[in-house]
Amino acid sequence: MSKSFYPRAGVPGDAKRLEFQIDALREEIEDELEILKPTPGMHVLDAGCGTGGFARIIAPRVSPSTVKAVDLERSYISVARRLAKNEGISNVDFSVQDISRLRFPAASFDLTYCRLALPFMPDKLATMKEMKRVTKTGGRIAVSNFAGFFAFPDISEFMKLGRKVATRRAARVMGKPKNRKNSDLLEEELMRRTGLRDVKVLPLHSIATQSDPVKLRRMLLPSIQYVEMDREEILKAGTTLQRYDRIMGQVNTWLKSPRAFWMGLMLLTVGTV
Ligand SMILES: C[S@@+](CC[C@H](N)C(=O)[O-])C[C@H]1O[C@@H](n2cnc3c(N)ncnc32)[C@H](O)[C@@H]1O
Repeated sequence: MSKSFYPRAGVPGDAKRLEFQIDALREEIEDELEILKPTPGMHVLDAGCGTGGFARIIAPRVSPSTVKAVDLERSYISVARRLAKNEGISNVDFSVQDISRLRFPAASFDLTYCRLALPFMPDKLATMKEMKRVTKTGGRIAVSNFAGFFAFPDISEFMKLGRKVATRRAARVMGKPKNRKNSDLLEEELMRRTGLRDVKVLPLHSIATQSDPVKLRRMLLPSIQYVEMDREEILKAGTTLQRYDRIMGQVNTWLKSPRAFWMGLMLLTVGTV
């Protein structure tokens, strides 16, 4: 079985965090669906599906087709199957697969979608070629990734808190840059080199303020969870408990501040095979 380069694969609590992230970015996923326009009968692959959030959202819109959703991490696939069952969604077929070596025949899908997974691939170009292989001529590949986010008033101390630990974990799992190929190529370049047509990069922004405190909280929650899950490692890496508590206190104050403003940008890159 292939090795996962996803630094959080199997980290306890991460399946829950992926679900919160899907929930936080639900509006952006709806914006993506406005662009991708799924229709009944369309054959869709969710490549690197995690706990299957996107697959569950798109499934009712392409019924009677069955969405295929694959991930290398077995524990996420188990959670994905359970969540789909709980929601009464029966037209998603989840399986453990490596998206750089898929077990689907050529030209199987009208839409191959990959959300927040391509950056973790040992060779992004090879993965794009594999996604092209399984996509029908005239079908589309859509890749969704974060461009960045911004929070005001400044909470960069909090943003930095878990970064050292996360960077170390990534280095441990992904190894030296020489282990990876084409890691510097952007999605549009990967698509062009793979011979896709009509490549477009579509910005999807999200803004949260106190006019919708639930949304504001949702936007920060996955980052808070990251830091809380890594609390012990952060303390071991040298942050004092006092500093940790002070910074987390700042985040709680931020969440209540009438000035709190969060803005994020996701990019959906779409190309036709
Ligand atoms: C940040 S998560 C995103 C999951 C999901 N797409 C979402 O939006 O919630 C990255 C996912 O890529 C998966 N992944 C990493 N390498 C993979 C590979 N070679 N084949 C399949 N999945 C992979 C990880 O297991 C993880 O579930």
